[in-house]
Amino acid sequence: MNNLLVTGGCGFIGSNFIRYLLNQSDFSGRIVNLDKLTYAGNPQSLGDVEHNFPDHYQLEAVDLCDQRGIAKVFKQNDIDAICHFAAESHVDRSINSPGEFIQSNIVGTYNLLEQARALGDKLKRFHHVSTDEVFGSLGETGFFTETTSYSPNSPYSASKASSDHLVRAYHETYGLPVTISNCSNNYGPFHFPEKLIPLVILKAINGETLPVYGDGKHVRDWLYVEDHCSAIWQIIANGEDGETYNVGGRNEKTNLSVVETICSKLDEKLGQLPSGPRKDLIEFVKDRPGHDRRYAIDCSKIEKDLGWTPAESFETGLDQTIDWYLENMAWVDSIKSGEYQTWITKQYGS
Ligand code: NAD
Ligand code: DAU
Repeated sequence: MNNLLVTGGCGFIGSNFIRYLLNQSDFSGRIVNLDKLTYAGNPQSLGDVEHNFPDHYQLEAVDLCDQRGIAKVFKQNDIDAICHFAAESHVDRSINSPGEFIQSNIVGTYNLLEQARALGDKLKRFHHVSTDEVFGSLGETGFFTETTSYSPNSPYSASKASSDHLVRAYHETYGLPVTISNCSNNYGPFHFPEKLIPLVILKAINGETLPVYGDGKHVRDWLYVEDHCSAIWQIIANGEDGETYNVGGRNEKTNLSVVETICSKLDEKLGQLPSGPRKDLIEFVKDRPGHDRRYAIDCSKIEKDLGWTPAESFETGLDQTIDWYLENMAWVDSIKSGEYQTWITKQYGS
């Protein structure tokens, strides 16, 4: 693999993946980052990479729905492998306005697959980064495996399920060397503060109300983002064509316990607020429509076949995450003030 196209590299997981690849893996080629730079895409998340790896990293501000735009990127960069992260990723937004999810996640993936197909034998790998949400919701017991039936419940998860099916079909029909990973909830540095963990960290630092949906007993299986990145690289490098791999942290937590743990860690690190412990800020609010009750991943296939294991526990990963936000308020402020949007317009036009 000489020229790896990473889509959505300015988002949360994509930016961590590019940093991981260039600093911690045996990948020695070039990375072309194709990103539409939506509200969730922030080139500043890769400022260090641009500075440290000028010959190995390049950003192309292009929308996956722009067929000509992506064709040009393929042609100019001699792409021979693809890791596809780009998507609209937030479930609540998909409930309010599903249209963008259909366009970027389904039509965008189709456009990318067509470019990949045109490469013929030159294409070494098309890796599709997907989610455990395609499997729907679990009861109190059991785990999602690679053979669990799809049963998506939100417009977001339905759009991801659709893109998974397209990727799989391009392997069966056209022989594309695809792999798919279905991963559980990630957390870590550069996570956009609309998602539970960064939202609660920032609100709790500032002494604001902490919204917990419904009864707070919904369960998610949390994985530190760098562990997801190492899993993806293992799959790209050593995975088998046409195979799907589940990735998870074996860290099942209720939302309420996640929020309470963040509160107590911040009380320890910063001292309590004048009003008392931060957990007093928790407020139970209206539930998310169609809210999946429990996700839990059986990741024994990737452990057994590719020797992957996560390095971080929830305790160590959460500590690193909280410390990162405390030390990177400039990143948070730039996102919140919309300053980076102005920068994007200046850099790339409207
Ligand atoms: P994110 O929202 O932080 O980033 C998405 C990136 O994709 C942004 O940089 C955005 O600008 C870009 N993008 C969106 N639409 C685009 C388009 N039409 N053309 C080009 N670029 C576009 O998302 P994330 O949390 O980093 O998730 C990345 C991928 O991983 C997604 O496919 C998501 O479904 C999947 N995933 C996420 C998690 C998680 O916990 N965050 C877990 C499992 C799987
Ligand atoms: O499981 C993988 C998925 O994890 C990814 O595919 C998605 O892209 C990613 O956004 C994430 O989806 P969730 O909906 O699980 O993540 P979110 O952070 O939005 O919510 C986590 C849980 O916390 C969920 O049960 C809803 C709840 N929640 C969320 C927010 C934002 C709250 O209780 N309060 C909140 O304010």
